Amino acid sequence: MNYLLGVDIGTSGTKALLINASKGGEVVASSAKTYPLYTPKPLWAEQEPEDWWQATIAAIADIIEASGINPKDIKGMGLSGQMHGSVFLDENNQVLRPAILWCDQRTQAECDWIMDTVGREKTVELISNPVLTGFTAGKIIWVRNNEPRVYERIKKALLPKDYIRFKLTGEFATEVSDASGTALFNVAKREWAWEMLDAIDIPRNWMPKAYESPEVSGRITSDASIITGLREGMPVVGGGGDQAAGAVGNGIVEPGIISSTVGTSGVVFAFADKPVVDPKLRVHTFCHAVPGKWHVMGVMLSAGGSLRWYRDTFADCEASVAKAMGEDTYDVMSREALRAPAGSEGLIFLPYLTGERTPYPDPNARGAFFGITLRSDKAHFVRSVMEGIAYGLRDSFEILKEMNIPMEQVRASGGGARSATWLQILADVIGCNHSTINIDEGPALGVALLAGVGTGVYKSVEDACRTVIRVDNTTIVNPINKEVYDTYYPLYRSLYKSLKDDFETVSQLVKE
Ligand code: XUL
Repeated sequence: MNYLLGVDIGTSGTKALLINASKGGEVVASSAKTYPLYTPKPLWAEQEPEDWWQATIAAIADIIEASGINPKDIKGMGLSGQMHGSVFLDENNQVLRPAILWCDQRTQAECDWIMDTVGREKTVELISNPVLTGFTAGKIIWVRNNEPRVYERIKKALLPKDYIRFKLTGEFATEVSDASGTALFNVAKREWAWEMLDAIDIPRNWMPKAYESPEVSGRITSDASIITGLREGMPVVGGGGDQAAGAVGNGIVEPGIISSTVGTSGVVFAFADKPVVDPKLRVHTFCHAVPGKWHVMGVMLSAGGSLRWYRDTFADCEASVAKAMGEDTYDVMSREALRAPAGSEGLIFLPYLTGERTPYPDPNARGAFFGITLRSDKAHFVRSVMEGIAYGLRDSFEILKEMNIPMEQVRASGGGARSATWLQILADVIGCNHSTINIDEGPALGVALLAGVGTGVYKSVEDACRTVIRVDNTTIVNPINKEVYDTYYPLYRSLYKSLKDDFETVSQLVKE
């Protein structure tokens, strides 16, 4: 049997997935373990790398037990993870401080300094992107400016999944898709941007070796084998940042297929043969997990995160109903949303709960409900949250259209793809039919497939996707609702512009 293992170090938890390549990629077992996210100050977001490691051990133990397989039959594994986070290690490979995450917004001053020091044009020439607060480079400079005692002890700076790779294999390694999100990587050349590192004085040897995603980057050590139960010497491939890995798991490995993923973040992802750059720098240009290919993506910071916030803050009744009926609270909320008409009678939600990245790289942006009337009830509120997230995703689709990126099929994935109501809202707001695929396992599936490529089970990433993934359902655009959303969309767009200065004012007030 050819079993393949994928592990995804996500923001809300770590997921392990075991598939059987000998049976067309059939899912054998999966397990998810959660951990906390800390916000010690407004705009900050941190996690403990040790929590990721413990969750990885527990999730792997679960799937070995649940599947009843002999771990010796696992051919290889791949790692995926939340992108951009920074793990700093000292000379004894000990973690120096909590990891600063992708959704942390503390580094605007550092990002401005990097862009000024390197020069805007040179930055784009070197890394194909601007330096944004979510990306890793600003986090390193923030530690230099604010925690000099920590900074002077740093010997390695790793991305989240690459810390887990180090624990499993003892290797300091990354791969091109995740490295692209550091703002220290030459995306066009697929190697570290040495000139950039030198210009901002970050030691070159802090960066791990960068592989292509399906390449073997290391093997399970005997210590890790004792801890995890995995076979000593089992190959661990490069894997991918969660978005590129999720795209592989969704079959986005050729032109014309676009994915729209609602996890904590919301991502619109398009395959690219070349490193094409948006002239206005609103979307990211990163290396794909397919060797020699790239992708363009728009990232909103609080997509599923906005709905989770709504659930945790306002949906106590829905949670009680769900408990009584043996359902998920989100299912009850989805039914509630259906009681409000498309457009929520003018109630519009701005989903900028943790600032925003695409299309507005603005750490000060805030969430807002606009257009409340006496008629607005909970159905309008929950529907407007779903619609606001969909408008946010549409912003990225509009940019990709402007860039003439081919768009023949949209594939939805993540939490948003699991609710028929939300799928319909996404299709109607974006104005494109939304398909879903046979195995909705996201990044963990993507890296399990990459492990299959790296260990010779599949000939290529494209071959792996063709063998395992197919479209099984399509939600068709409802033209009447589309028309309603087309009329509200310009208003959604203009609200950010009207409120931009006020967002800055309120951020200052909260800081003072
Ligand atoms: C991608 C991004 C997020 C994180 C967390 O650029 O910031 O999608 O990877 O999922």
